[in-house]
Amino acid sequence: MNIGIPKEIKTNENRVSCTPAGVRHLVSSGHHVVVERGAGEGSGFDDNQYRRSGAVIGESPGVVWNNDLIVKVKEPILPEFQFFREGQILFTYLHLASAPELARHLVNSKTTGIAYETVEHGGQLPLLSPMSEVAGKMSIIMGGFYLDKHQGGEGKLLGSLPGVLPGKVVILGGGSAGVNAAKAAAGLGAQVTIMDINQERLRELDNLLPPQVNTLYSNEQHLEEMLLDADLVIGAVLVTGAKAPKLLSRAMLQKMKPGAVLVDISIDQGGCFETSRPTTHENPVFIEEGIVHYCVANMPAAYPRSSTEALTGATLPYIKRIADLGFEGALVMVPGLSGGLNTWSGHVTHKEVAISLGLPFHENPFI
Ligand SMILES: NC(=O)c1ccc[n+]([C@@H]2O[C@H](COP(=O)([O-])OP(=O)(O)OC[C@H]3O[C@@H](n4cnc5c(N)ncnc54)[C@H](O)[C@@H]3O)[C@@H](O)[C@H]2O)c1
Repeated sequence: MNIGIPKEIKTNENRVSCTPAGVRHLVSSGHHVVVERGAGEGSGFDDNQYRRSGAVIGESPGVVWNNDLIVKVKEPILPEFQFFREGQILFTYLHLASAPELARHLVNSKTTGIAYETVEHGGQLPLLSPMSEVAGKMSIIMGGFYLDKHQGGEGKLLGSLPGVLPGKVVILGGGSAGVNAAKAAAGLGAQVTIMDINQERLRELDNLLPPQVNTLYSNEQHLEEMLLDADLVIGAVLVTGAKAPKLLSRAMLQKMKPGAVLVDISIDQGGCFETSRPTTHENPVFIEEGIVHYCVANMPAAYPRSSTEALTGATLPYIKRIADLGFEGALVMVPGLSGGLNTWSGHVTHKEVAISLGLPFHENPFI
């Protein structure tokens, strides 16, 4: 199959969808790979490394997008919509529930859109997890940084000091992002509470996490109580394919400590705090009701080397199977991949995505 790897053009996005080692694996399996000039630079991979792996370097986005299977990192943005066409397979993060314009273009062009974040296997989201793991760890680094008084924070260190109590971290959602945030916060010595609505998951977390991490069933009353003295709140909930539920209202913020910090990891699904709006790495925070909000929708872009390697490790087996079998064959043969089909032949084929967008749902024919 002819595979195109475009350079990511979203603000400050430095990841690339495949490492040179991954390209080598695809080329040695008989596939033709075109990598856009400079696509790997932000992650520390130059064009010569891709050439040595057997790729052709594409001089322009048009050349790269003119292939059968386009593998990306982030959801396409406006300048990329012109390249969509019938018969093309787009394999990337799509987050369509919060991107109606992108969904409209994919549907109108009859592009086959397979979203990393809705591929499901064994009750897990194997293509979302690597980036959630990065974002979870990073949320504590960023949260701790913005608690700095000079950054608008309350001036509280997350770790304990002799004779001084540690910072309090509340994490909403105990999935891949949440558990990594909890481990990072506990590693600093913070007092951590992780909240989820899945009782079975809470039981697993209780066994898995260090003793200073408490688990708590997530409901409005528990959340209100926890927020009163929280220093850092991490939003890491997910209902697959759907817009994130709004768990923290403006009224709740008013009861929090001024200078506390919120990190809304779920912002790529619309955000789980009422006052969240997407920000960028250039301008990552804003203050509402005296509370610092960090709402960067592509957090792992800050650590592109680690993120690109982690992403390729997860996606490569799926890319290879799509290229080997064609998307119809792969959707039928590869467990969980069919859950990734979001748009096909002019239809929205993922139920939660269709509901979130208010568009008609068309049954996925490959399940
Ligand atoms: N901003 C970024 O750069 C970035 C990067 C990676 C992932 N993400 C996002 O992070 C979010 C979390 O991803 P994940 O892989 O950890 O998901 P996950 O599915 O592994 O975990 C989500 C958890 O949220 C829980 N949950 C659902 N509704 C809840 C509620 N009302 N209250 C409490 N818990 C609830 C679920 O039970 C589940 O345990 C997703 O929206 C994902 O897209 C963002």
